[in-house]
Amino acid sequence: MSALFSVAGKCALVTGGNRGVGLMIARGLLQAGARVYISARDPEVCARSAAELSLWGDCRAIAADLSQTAECARLAQELGRQEDCLHILVNNAGQTLGAPLADFGDEQWDSVFDVNVKGVFQLTRHLHRLLEKGAAEGDPARVINIGSVDGFHVPAMENYSYTASKAALHHLTRHLAKRLGPNVTVNALALGPFISAMTDASIGADMAARAPLRRIGNDDDAAGAVIFLSARAGAFLTGAVIPVDGGLITTV
Ligand SMILES: NC(=O)c1ccc[n+]([C@@H]2O[C@H](COP(=O)([O-])OP(=O)(O)OC[C@H]3O[C@@H](n4cnc5c(N)ncnc54)[C@H](OP(=O)(O)O)[C@@H]3O)[C@@H](O)[C@H]2O)c1
Repeated sequence: MSALFSVAGKCALVTGGNRGVGLMIARGLLQAGARVYISARDPEVCARSAAELSLWGDCRAIAADLSQTAECARLAQELGRQEDCLHILVNNAGQTLGAPLADFGDEQWDSVFDVNVKGVFQLTRHLHRLLEKGAAEGDPARVINIGSVDGFHVPAMENYSYTASKAALHHLTRHLAKRLGPNVTVNALALGPFISAMTDASIGADMAARAPLRRIGNDDDAAGAVIFLSARAGAFLTGAVIPVDGGLITTV
C-alpha cells in the first residue's frame, strides 16, 4: 500500500514555495521523499527558503517573476539544465488585490491575472516537454493548480480580479487536462482558508466557523492533497477541481 501513496524519488517544482501554502506543500513533498525546486521572485529569499527546507530533503531554488512570460521560459530552461524530466508541477504562486469598485483599475486587474492565470499557462506550456519526459506507464506526470473556493462563490471582500482569476484557473485546468493527456494529468485544488500572508486571520476564522469541519486548513491538509494527486493513487484523476476547504463550499 505504501508504494501506492509514495512520491519518493520524484522531482517536483512548487512555485511560491518560499512561504505560506507553497511552503507547506514543498515541505510535505520533501518529507515524503521528493526532490523539490521552489521558485519566487527574490533570489536571496528563494535561496534562503530552499536552504531552510533542505532540513527535510533535497531542495533547490530558481527565482523567477512568473507574471512575465520570458521569466516562465527562463525558469523552464534552467530546470531543464538541471533535470532530465519533471514529475510534479505545483502552480501555487498567486496574488490578490482588493479595492472598492469605483477605484478598481487596470493595475489591480492585470497584476493578479498575470500571475494567477497567464503565468500558470505559460509556465505549464514551457515545462510541457520536461513533464512528458517525466511520465511513466501507469504513472503520468502531474500538474496541480492551486485554485480557491473564491473561484466558486462570491466572498465578502471586493477582490474582483482574484475571484475571476481563480474561476479562470479552474476552467484552464479542465482545458489543459484535455490537451495534455494521456501522459500528463492536470487537476486543481480549490483551497478554503489557510493561514498565510495573503489571508486575513479573522476572515479565515470566520469562514472556518461556518464550515462543517469548523477549522482552517493546516500544513498536512495542503501537503496531503498534493501528495495524493502526485502519487500513483492519484493517477486516474484529471480535469478535476477538488475543494480542500473543510466542506465550506458545498455546505454554506
Ligand atoms: N491562504 C489561503 O487561505 C488561500 C486560499 C485559497 C487559495 N490560496 C492560494 O494559494 C496560493 C498561495 O497563497 P498563500 O496564501 O500562500 O499566499 P502568500 O503567502 O502571499 O504566497 C504567495 C506566493 O506566490 C509568490 N508570488 C506572487 N507573485 C509572484 C510572481 N509574480 N512571480 C513569482 N512568484 C510570485 C510569492 O512569492 P514572492 O512574493 O516572494 O515572490 C509567494 O511565494 C495562491 O495561489 C492563493 O491564491 C490561498
